[in-house]
Amino acid sequence: MSKVYPVDPAFAAKARIRKADYEKLYAESVKDPEGFWGRIAERLEWAKKPTRIRDVSYDPQNLHIRWYDDGQLNVSANCLDRHLATRGDKTAIIFEGDDPSESRRISYRELHAEVCKFANTLKHLGVKKGDRVAIYMPMIPEAAVAMLACARIGAVHSVVFGGFSPDSLAGRIADSTAKMVITADEGVRGGKRIPLKANVDAALERPGTNSVETVVVVRRTGSAVPMQSPRDRYYHVLMEGQSAECPAEPVEAEHPLFILYTSGSTGKPKGVLHTSGGYLVYASLTHEWVFDVREDDVYWCTADVGWVTGHSYVVYGPLANGATTVMFDGVPNYPDFSRFWQVVDKHRVTLFYTAPTAIRALMREGEGPVKKCSRASLRLLGSVGEPINPEAWEWYHRVVGDERCPIVDTWWQTETGGILITPLAGAIDTKPGSATLPFFGIKPAVVDAGGAVLEGPAEGNLLITDSWPGQMRTVYGDHQRFIDTYFKAYPGSYFTGDGVRRDEDGYYWITGRVDDVINVSGHRIGTAEVESALVAHPKVAEAAVVGCPHEIKGQGIYAYVTLVAGEQGSEELRKELVAWVRKEIGPIATPDYIQWAPGLPKTRSGKIMRRILRKIGENQPDQLGDISTLADPAVVKNLVDERLIR
Ligand code: WT7
Repeated sequence: MSKVYPVDPAFAAKARIRKADYEKLYAESVKDPEGFWGRIAERLEWAKKPTRIRDVSYDPQNLHIRWYDDGQLNVSANCLDRHLATRGDKTAIIFEGDDPSESRRISYRELHAEVCKFANTLKHLGVKKGDRVAIYMPMIPEAAVAMLACARIGAVHSVVFGGFSPDSLAGRIADSTAKMVITADEGVRGGKRIPLKANVDAALERPGTNSVETVVVVRRTGSAVPMQSPRDRYYHVLMEGQSAECPAEPVEAEHPLFILYTSGSTGKPKGVLHTSGGYLVYASLTHEWVFDVREDDVYWCTADVGWVTGHSYVVYGPLANGATTVMFDGVPNYPDFSRFWQVVDKHRVTLFYTAPTAIRALMREGEGPVKKCSRASLRLLGSVGEPINPEAWEWYHRVVGDERCPIVDTWWQTETGGILITPLAGAIDTKPGSATLPFFGIKPAVVDAGGAVLEGPAEGNLLITDSWPGQMRTVYGDHQRFIDTYFKAYPGSYFTGDGVRRDEDGYYWITGRVDDVINVSGHRIGTAEVESALVAHPKVAEAAVVGCPHEIKGQGIYAYVTLVAGEQGSEELRKELVAWVRKEIGPIATPDYIQWAPGLPKTRSGKIMRRILRKIGENQPDQLGDISTLADPAVVKNLVDERLIR
């Protein structure tokens, strides 16, 4: 029996949602989704109020997902203009730089002016409604300005995480045929410089990227970077003399807001497309209710804007709610392991949202770095990105939260736009390691491999059987891939790619991905991507990649590599391949283990049997299961004998 942490009555007394509200509202939301989501949509300001609430079909023959589709709104007006009358002087963004001496507060009025100026700049540079704009930036306010300025004129942003390589950036630019790239001269993380502009230059030399007409460069470090005329323009120069007024253009609710690339089990990353109305309704509602946001809260989500968490819970959700959101451009261990808590004290953070990998890394340093800061302002803690192990949950609760702050373990995905399974701190008792119960309007189901729906306590694959407004609408440029990936395996439902267990109280426990996706430090890496990076190396004949247990990252990357004839595995070659993958994809794809494999286990038809490789990588050689279908069962013995984790 797992431990239960009951709702704190003091928290519940003031909470937005309490137990009785949850039960009543949840029942209502799934019984009458139109009524529920129609009412909730009123939280936004619409240029034209929607009357058609939902138009959804999960039928693969006719798949479409539309919410509020006769409505019109502007996302940036909802995040900015709407607050000016009541919150003009309220801080919208607290920026905290990598260097602890650098921070700044930006009010809603200032942010509005900056976004208007940059929206005018975009127009001046020829960016039009529907054009794609790539954003490759550090965690500086200008990243949010760029996103909101795109939204203001109906341009579609595609934020690419600053840790991705030039090749990864080039692939995303090419796939979305971006017209512009917005970047900075350099980033700074943990005291180290990241050559963002140089990476953009390199990316734009790759084939398929000549859609880019302009590169806008924000001065971050001030280092001299080569500027190509007329392509490259400095942000601060362009902004001079721009008007601080730019009417927000109302767009249809289903107008695309952004594309965000994410890894799948096969092929190249998919461009997950989110649209305007439904996305903002869902991001703002979940932000307000899950974090129990109040007018005077200081909310800090440590995610980078390069990930969906940064989109929904650093920028769009908080700003739509008129909240104060912290943007942190640093790392948890710089200048020391106390940094998070120093920032909490410095800015009096009340709501704090981070990832299990960060918690585990901090946990390893002991309580000292936490306890030397007060953290008295904190009142709620959140977790996202991967299953949080109960030990880390308990530590987060006891050491960081002083047993005073409820924890919300929020399960969701890039595809879902916002949180789907989560506790509500005033309503739902928590169990360490469980994301608990569905949010309003979310209907999870547990199925077995054959698709039979399991009732009661059960373990299987996690489906969501009906749509919600924040759901992705398509894979950019490849609607068939959208259908095939999410709606083919279990017709009539959205397939999450996650395994799950539902306990006797109806609580959900996510068990991890059931596809060939590895969750490294809360970030998705497709095994296929790492494999294709490895085989691109001249000395590699073949590679197979699986996830393995990793103390800090949750999952690590375990690669089996077959070298071309005549090559020998060595420590130097291992280092060379690690560096190669980092260069090809980015540091997040760094292989943790490379095992030299004279052969890989394959079926007679030549398919690599990853199930076996996964078990070897997990040091469970006695659980390989049936290997009789292998073309050459002898290769397994060698791999088991030479395994790197034991
Ligand atoms: C995958 C989605 C959604 C924001 C960050 C990751 C895993 C995410 C949890 C959680 C257990 C979780 C799932 C999911 N995941 N949050 N609270 N408990 N697992 O977004 O890169 O799209 O990855 O992350 O496996 O499918 P993402």
